[in-house]
Amino acid sequence: MSAEMRELKIEAARAALDQVEDGMRLGIGTGSTAEEFVRLLAERVADGLSVIGVPTSERTADLCTELGVPLTTLDETPALDLTIDGADEIGPGLGLIKGGGGALLREKIVASASARMIVIADKTKLVDALGRFALPIEVNVFGLAATMDAIENVARELGLNGPLIVRQADSKPFVTDGGHLIVDASFGRIPDPRALAAALNAIPGVVEHGLFLDLADTAFIAGDGEVRTVGAT
Ligand code: A5P
Repeated sequence: MSAEMRELKIEAARAALDQVEDGMRLGIGTGSTAEEFVRLLAERVADGLSVIGVPTSERTADLCTELGVPLTTLDETPALDLTIDGADEIGPGLGLIKGGGGALLREKIVASASARMIVIADKTKLVDALGRFALPIEVNVFGLAATMDAIENVARELGLNGPLIVRQADSKPFVTDGGHLIVDASFGRIPDPRALAAALNAIPGVVEHGLFLDLADTAFIAGDGEVRTVGAT
């Protein structure tokens, strides 16, 4: 990642940090942008800010522990004040594609348990329509081929075609923190994300998908010398 790109992620993360108040219960996202947020948050914690966080992945949990950000679980703290997370795409109405880092299930559970969700990103994530980024779909290992057929069928009914690929890591299928697989669906432009989300949720082998609709309240998007706010402040 270029130094300029990293700086944009830090700027967006800094804008989100301004929204964090003493005593908040936070959802803490996954990915390179969320990691910049964790680093900034850790500095504030070292200076005396009192917060507690639920991490959205083992990777984020490790970073928080290393940097001294206090953690809890969603079982101990089932209602959160604010979740801060990155995104792979930010589309109209703050609809998102997430899951490029493979953490979409925990990210969605945590965001859904939060009163508010802030997305932090550099401007390359902004799109007119979702779908340029392959949609990550988390699936159960059992019945993988049947689930992939079902995904293809519902997508076709919605006019969406494109290869489905089981995500690999180190020449093996990538396994999520929940023990599932990720199918990356290169549908291209998704004209009706809501219909696709509902259709995917109706497939038994689909655990969750990376369409985050009606979850994000605000996005801080860094680029061109400013941090733009989209949505509520
Ligand atoms: C993790 O599963 C994803 O949803 C990330 O939030 C997303 O991939 C953004 O990551 P970056 O901040 O690294 O682009």
